[in-house]
Order: sequence, then C-alpha cells, then structure tokens
Amino acid sequence: MERVPTGIKGFDDLVQGGFPRGSTILYCGSPGTGKTIFSLEYAYRGAKEFNEKSLYVTFEQRREELVEQASQFGWDLGEIEHSGMLKIVSIPARDLNYKTSAGIVKMSIDEGFKRVVIDSLSTLTINAPIYSDQEANTVKDVVGDKMFFSPPIIGDTLTKRFIYNFIDDIKRADHITTLLVGEAPDKGDFISRDSISEFICDGVILVTFESMGGEFSRSLIVRKMRNTKNDEDIHPLEIGHAGMVVHNIE
Ligand SMILES: Nc1ncnc2c1ncn2[C@@H]1O[C@H](COP(=O)(O)OP(=O)(O)O)[C@@H](O)[C@H]1O
Ligand SMILES: [Mg+2]
Repeated sequence: MERVPTGIKGFDDLVQGGFPRGSTILYCGSPGTGKTIFSLEYAYRGAKEFNEKSLYVTFEQRREELVEQASQFGWDLGEIEHSGMLKIVSIPARDLNYKTSAGIVKMSIDEGFKRVVIDSLSTLTINAPIYSDQEANTVKDVVGDKMFFSPPIIGDTLTKRFIYNFIDDIKRADHITTLLVGEAPDKGDFISRDSISEFICDGVILVTFESMGGEFSRSLIVRKMRNTKNDEDIHPLEIGHAGMVVHNIE
C-alpha cells in the first residue's frame, strides 16, 4: 500500500507513514479545533516537500484569509501557488450546486492534482437541499402507459443523499488523496453532522477540544483508516509556531 505522508509532525507515524494513496479521509472536529490549519498544512507540505500538486477548496473563507493564517506559521502560500504546485479555490456558499463535486473532480483530473482538500463538508450539509437537483430526487414509476412521480425526497434523506453523491464523485478519482473537513456535532451517536460521511470515507480522524487547564486543549484520535494498522490512542494536538504537532502521552 503506497502512503501519502502529510508531513505533519507526529501524525504520519499513527497511520503507517501516511494516508493510503487514493483514499478519502474525513477530518472532523468542533469549531476552533484546527481543522483548517491541519488541512492547509496537508496541502502546503504536499506541494512544498513531497512534490505533489495540491488543490485546496474552501466554501468558508476567502483566499486572502487563508494566506494570512498560513503566514503565521511561516508558510508562503502565494509563492507555492505561483510555482503551480498549489491552487486555492474559494467558492462562496451561495455559488454551490449539485454540480460542484463533479466540477472539483474534473478540475483535479484535468490539472493533475494529487491531493485535494474540501473545507468543509458541513457547509454543504447545511445547504444541501437548496443545491440538490429536483429531478434527480424524484423517483419515477412507470406503470403501463402512466408515469407517476413520487414527491421529492425531503429533509434529512435529501441531505444524506447529496453528501453521499458528493463523496462518491470524489472517491471515483482513485489516484487523488482527499481530505474532507467536517464539523462534529457536540453530542449524539454520529461523528459527523451529516451522520453518513464517516461510513463512506476510508478514514476518519476526530479532533476534540477540552480545556482542563493543562498544556494542551486539543486532542486527536484516528478512528478509522482502511488498509492500515492505525494507532488507536488519543494524542494531544498542538498548534505550534511552525504548524500542527501531534504529541504522544508519556
Ligand atoms: N498562530 C496560531 N498559533 C496558535 N494557535 C492558533 C494560531 N492561529 C489560530 N490558532 C488557533 O486555531 C484556531 C482556529 O483554527 P482553525 O483551523 O481555523 O479551526 P477550525 O477550522 O477547526 O474551525 C483558533 O481558534 C485559535 O485557537
Ligand atoms: Mg475551518
């Protein structure tokens, strides 16, 4: 199994050297747990240190905000973009539709991206019914000469179906290793807000925030990683001066 190292300090050892090449990984956590920083670092180091063309798609922030955030860790995104190894695409939520995933996949294949980040799946989940194609969500039933249309699938099912199709499109690009950022709900039986992405994705990383007055407030656990004998411990996660650092509990 070929590995795709993130280059993030302390992380790759947890997953036998990196994500399985071509896999789709869900990176899930509550707000402020560092999801954007982690996924930005994955794309940045991929381009800078591993010679892999990386695409960062955000529905939540402007490109300038990401460049600014990255500069705090000494990462010059503009320079790498200029070299052609990194592309940042900011799509405002209002411009999303049911063709967005296919568009991202097509761009990734056409332009030869090896790593893709989607930040975030939650933006899609919240707005999924608005983006969905009405036609695709109507079940046609042909009986004799007559054609009946069932009512459109609504609510939760529609959201799940939209997210399922989105991830399915992305998984079909089997040489691209994708990191999907997801928002974790505070409580409940599911890891992701859409409650389906954790089942479809090949890997799930969960980050939690719990300040107990100690040195670190954030911790990371690899919940799932297909084709990998992954580490199963909880690890303190630090947002260091040069990027993320995954620590071991002594
Ligand atoms: N330069 C920095 N050094 C240390 N911590 C930082 C720095 N910049 C941001 N943070 C922390 O990271 C958080 C934001 O990280 P981000 O990746 O945007 O979170 P998420 O995407 O999970 O909402 C901030 O709330 C702050 O606590
Ligand atoms: Mg974020």
